[in-house]
Amino acid sequence: MKRLFLSILAALSVLNGMAQLKTGDITIIPEPVLLTSMPGSFVLNEKAAIHYSGQAAGKIAGFLNDFLQRSYNFKLPVSGYPTKRVAAAHPMIILVEAASAKPDGYILEVNTGRVYLQGDANGLLYGLQTLLQLFPLNKMIAPDPSGNKTQDSVKLQQLYAAGQHAAIHLPGVRIQDYPRFAYRGMMLDVGRHFFPPAAVKQFIDMLVLYKFNRFHWHLTEDQGWRIEIKKYPRLQQIASVRKETIVGHHRRSTTYDGKPYDGYYTQDEVRDIVKYAAERNITIIPEIEMPGHSQAVLAAYPQFGNTGGPYEVRTTWGISKDVLNPANDSVFTFLQDVLTEVMDLFPSPYIHIGGDECLKDRWKESREVQQLIKKLGLKDEHDLQSYFINRIEKFVNSKGRSIIGWDEILEGGLAPNATVMSWRGEEGGIAAAKEKHDVIMTPNTYLYFDYTQGQPATEPLNAAAYLPLKTVYNYEPLPPSLTPAERQYIKGVQGNIWTEFIPDQQMLDYMVWPRALALSEIAWSQPGKKNYLRFMRKLPLELARLNNAGVNFRIPEPVGLESKVVTTPAVTVTLKPPVKGSFIYYTTDGSQPGTRSRPYTQPFELSVPENGTALVQCIVVLPSGRISPLYSATYVRKPYLPALTVKPGKKGVRFSLVNNTFANARQLPVPGDSSGILPAIDIRPLALKNGGVTFSGYVNIPADDLYEFHLNSDDGAVFYVDDQVVVDNDGQHDLQDRSGFLPLRKGLHKIKVQYFNVGTGAWLDAGIYRDREKLNPAEVLYTGQ
Ligand code: ACM
Repeated sequence: MKRLFLSILAALSVLNGMAQLKTGDITIIPEPVLLTSMPGSFVLNEKAAIHYSGQAAGKIAGFLNDFLQRSYNFKLPVSGYPTKRVAAAHPMIILVEAASAKPDGYILEVNTGRVYLQGDANGLLYGLQTLLQLFPLNKMIAPDPSGNKTQDSVKLQQLYAAGQHAAIHLPGVRIQDYPRFAYRGMMLDVGRHFFPPAAVKQFIDMLVLYKFNRFHWHLTEDQGWRIEIKKYPRLQQIASVRKETIVGHHRRSTTYDGKPYDGYYTQDEVRDIVKYAAERNITIIPEIEMPGHSQAVLAAYPQFGNTGGPYEVRTTWGISKDVLNPANDSVFTFLQDVLTEVMDLFPSPYIHIGGDECLKDRWKESREVQQLIKKLGLKDEHDLQSYFINRIEKFVNSKGRSIIGWDEILEGGLAPNATVMSWRGEEGGIAAAKEKHDVIMTPNTYLYFDYTQGQPATEPLNAAAYLPLKTVYNYEPLPPSLTPAERQYIKGVQGNIWTEFIPDQQMLDYMVWPRALALSEIAWSQPGKKNYLRFMRKLPLELARLNNAGVNFRIPEPVGLESKVVTTPAVTVTLKPPVKGSFIYYTTDGSQPGTRSRPYTQPFELSVPENGTALVQCIVVLPSGRISPLYSATYVRKPYLPALTVKPGKKGVRFSLVNNTFANARQLPVPGDSSGILPAIDIRPLALKNGGVTFSGYVNIPADDLYEFHLNSDDGAVFYVDDQVVVDNDGQHDLQDRSGFLPLRKGLHKIKVQYFNVGTGAWLDAGIYRDREKLNPAEVLYTGQ
């Protein structure tokens, strides 16, 4: 008894000691169309009541009460509106379902007397998410009992359980809001790693918080089939199990873990998740991959392959050459049976049929397939893939649904009603929009959240391309090269999470957040409301909210930790914690920082030698004790390289390809065996195995500044700027990441990248960054004349 009393006293002091939220602190992500701070605040306590009008508003009242119960241990009475009770007698939360001027729109007003939320059914749901972001964190119980619950949170829980209630101040505000894009999606690959139904629901909960409305569920892969199909039980028995899994990166590793890995969703689980999502206005788009990424199917049903097998469920990452055989008509019967069960489970108007990365080796080798190509009067294997997708599209259309496919479905001719998901950059989406097909933009250059958020060396194992938060944030989905009429075909955007290196929910959180917060502003906010600096100002509080909810987001670099050119012998370094309440520890002598290094409490002076550099390294520690990776900034005191006076020539870079074996990139001869122009420094279009390529051209530097050059490659590569080496990543090696900095004047600078590969696993990720934002190759690269 005494102990309880003492802890209540302690908790009271927690409540009193915490500052109230000031109205200037209103931070909503994604940024609304209109937000005006109003005087006063609404005091929410257990004397308040919810009044609603319309069925959807009744559902929202339930969601709000769920939140209050979780966060403050009380619920409010709910009744109809208009109410007979005198308006001033009690604080009211009024929820009104009404047609909205813009679909999915809402209006939210908070003042001293009431909270008023009005919108259409979806708008009310989104208005509720905005309202939840007005709740101050300091009186909220961390809702996840296994999360990073703080001491304060435990005290609050005891206090509320003992009958004390918080008075919650919601700042006065008027918000009018509606989305920019109709399609606001995230894709999760459950083939490489399986995420149990509870994790999928949590993922959906998170999507709702930031006003996403599509969940693309990537259900089948070479490495595992994850959905129960009643007619083909071997999919569950065989195709959902792999005997073991590669350890580490498949481009470096030859080690396997020896442990069977399995998992699939029963149809009952799928129905339950579909219903759960629908209640939250999330349409689930199921993906059944074809004709590639199907090795797991072949393990279960070898008769659907080209070689007769035997096959096993793939145990390493990368793409399988074993694909479905279009010359066997029972393959189509199988797919139609599967799709029939899938369409029965998923009411989505769209069914994703994959279509990406179907290697054509087996089709080229197969007499049967070559005969089919002849018989159908087709030109080649790409035409055959187009025939395959067309045939499936006809079937899906006959059931009143439409297909979505990855941008490879453009090759050999687009199926007539297909929506294209542009993933290999934006080119596929641009081409499809010009052909008057609907497009979802999911470019790997901006929206692949399996790519690393920071320096690969200090980040967890990942897919080996560099995609920092700022690069994601500044993505604009409507390409300037399209006419306004063509832009109408871009229906929205989606972030993709491939899970080769994401084994569990902890890592999923880490890779998704905060980059999905940036995506939410791309998808929802009006272009004029997107502002990176404002987003970064809002982030610390929102991340504190996510921390409270037990979300294992990646802790961003401290605000102000930026590599830059300096002109004086000493500079002042000013940092800000990236998460509200977090701590920064740093070093300036090149040593690894830890929690016993100097804590950052105020701006400090840093000496930078003439013609040299200085390094700040730091870590960020959350109140829960969670520690960030190592972050650093380089201060460069060197002269700028002047721009060149040359004619820019065409857009793109020249390449010169050599098919020969080399021991390092510097040996590459120019000219090579073939040459041409590409839109970016990218080896993918070149299908290179043993050989090398030299890229050369000019970069149009947008302003005097420090630029970072980045090379992640297998094997070696060298980056030259104005004839000097800026990144040396040469030699025969597995995947390896290197970067370098150069101060450059605005204007044209000469660039060259030499790259070579021996054996399998050719990979090159090359980029130029300014303050962690990638320069868009389409805008800055020129061939020269
Ligand atoms: C993809 O990333 N293969 C769509």
